[in-house]
Amino acid sequence: MADPHPSDPHPPAAVPRFPAGFLWGAATSAYQVEGAAAEDGRTPSIWDTFCRVPGRVHRGQTGDVATDHYHRYRDDVRLMAELGLTAYRFSVSWPRVRPTGRGPASQRGLDFYRRLADELLTAGITPVATLYHWDLPEELEAAGGWPERATAERFAEYAALVGEAVGDRVHRWTTLNEPWCSAFLGYGSGVHAPGRTDPVAALRAAHHLNLGHGLAVQALRAALPAGALLSVALNLHAVRPLTPSAPDRDAARRIDAVGNRVFLGPMLEGAYPKDLLDDTAGLTDWSFVRPGDPATVHQPLDWLGVNYYTPTVVSATTEGTEPARQDGHGGGQVSPWPGADRVGFHRAPGDVTAMDWAVDPSGLHELLTGMARRYPGLPLAVTENGAAYEDEVGADGAVDDPHRAAYVRAHLAAVHRAVTDGADVRGYFLWSLLDNFEWAYGYEKRFGLVHVDPRTLARTPKSSAHWYGRVARSGELLPLDGA
Ligand code: FCB
Repeated sequence: MADPHPSDPHPPAAVPRFPAGFLWGAATSAYQVEGAAAEDGRTPSIWDTFCRVPGRVHRGQTGDVATDHYHRYRDDVRLMAELGLTAYRFSVSWPRVRPTGRGPASQRGLDFYRRLADELLTAGITPVATLYHWDLPEELEAAGGWPERATAERFAEYAALVGEAVGDRVHRWTTLNEPWCSAFLGYGSGVHAPGRTDPVAALRAAHHLNLGHGLAVQALRAALPAGALLSVALNLHAVRPLTPSAPDRDAARRIDAVGNRVFLGPMLEGAYPKDLLDDTAGLTDWSFVRPGDPATVHQPLDWLGVNYYTPTVVSATTEGTEPARQDGHGGGQVSPWPGADRVGFHRAPGDVTAMDWAVDPSGLHELLTGMARRYPGLPLAVTENGAAYEDEVGADGAVDDPHRAAYVRAHLAAVHRAVTDGADVRGYFLWSLLDNFEWAYGYEKRFGLVHVDPRTLARTPKSSAHWYGRVARSGELLPLDGA
């Protein structure tokens, strides 16, 4: 007898499903969203100062008001809850909770983060706090900044006081966000605050950021309740040689050393890579690394944050390349790559975002599976990924951003593939919740899931936010709207 229900020769492919408990988040940072720059005792950070140097930031814009998240956080949390997000990655402003970077804590500053955490917890959203997203108190820069060891010590003190005040509410912590940018864009190419251009200062800064991380992890373990989950968020570079030639492969090795292993080595393996020390031997003997420092930096971590936007394609020569491409953050004439300043940077093939960054999710898969292989047993999270596009507000006030949704979907597919391939990825934080202050680009580049009106600061979730919210609610990689 014929089968009354012959099986469909082309059954619909199952929608990829993420692991149970996967955190579906969005990310912001204090200086980019909070505003209230001079309120409740906050003192200036290096970014407040840098924004006032003519020519450094698009149209002289500042984070004085930003998105006014400091006053509107309740509405922003409500929005996240309405969309269906389950986690929020924010950063704590050092000069807000410890004005001037030393001295007593500001209770008013700390209270803001306690209220924010409470609001999130009430809404069922997991708070994930980052202690340093680039806003060094100006006084500490005046005393020498990250190139000096004392800054690492101040950072650990600050970590302890935040941990003590907020640790009863927040269980997931990140010490530093993208220390590569702090060291090499801040002190190397100078396109970020504090705007110094000194390769040796940049290497010293990298070490003292590493040391600050290690000291802060120790301080947090002492200050936080048992069970707190500590991490660091690195902008790992998915480095690719332009051609398979030996010189191009050596260029890739150099950039991997000073872009990735300069942090991964000491933080996760307890030593600086030998090839990095060799590449930079003409600049420094690294005597600022004191005996015992590598052991201090090498603290057990509970998870690793990976920030990824686009691959890094390099060649052995700068000929025919634009300086603007050397750091992905707007160029500058001085190389942010000590010991690799003759390396050329190229745009990867494919479509680009408004940052002129190529869309290539394979880099994210490569980084996640690479970290899983190299550091088995260390859970991972994508702590930043997202795209700037020139969004338009329709006549009806709606913002339809199909490019952003497509970018995010393609990258989530890469995350899902990495999970299938064995990477233990626990969450994804889209950069960013809101259109915000994009550093040297000011408010020109919009990364938000939520549009922020530049005049009224009114929030309007873009179409990508509605799609992402449905993905968060279902835990499945749903098709794009209209697909
Ligand atoms: C990362 C930063 C974040 C934002 C995105 C676009 O490097 O951590 O603050 O600028 O890039």
